[in-house]
Amino acid sequence: MAATQESSPPSPKRRFFLFCAGVTALYPIIRFLGFNVPRKPKIIQITTPLAAGGFHTGSDFILFDNGAKAWAISRRCTHLGCTVNYHEKDKIIECPCHQSRFTDTGHVVHGPAKRDLPQYKVEKLDDGGYIITI
Ligand code: FES
Repeated sequence: MAATQESSPPSPKRRFFLFCAGVTALYPIIRFLGFNVPRKPKIIQITTPLAAGGFHTGSDFILFDNGAKAWAISRRCTHLGCTVNYHEKDKIIECPCHQSRFTDTGHVVHGPAKRDLPQYKVEKLDDGGYIITI
């Protein structure tokens, strides 16, 4: 005669143990997937002083100096990421892809972009140069 074994449901104590073991095993994976390493800031030094009202176009930024204050604007369009250009004559930043327009401080004037261009921290040096932190 063959003996049959019935499997009984795990006891509440055993279920709790299995739950804790599962959480313990998954925690490092969940933590790893959700962990964002902060981006290392990029420091750019401009040694040439700008005239009051002047600007300098870099690959990632446009630097402006009105004599009293210097600021830098990202060249990455907030719509779909094209590289924007500064039109000195109109004092406007325009995206060549879908013609979003921004002021020289990065504020949206005309869509489709809805968000302003990010500004970067600029430190004006005593010798007339600039340090931009991107
Ligand atoms: S990517 Fe600049 S307006 Fe569309």
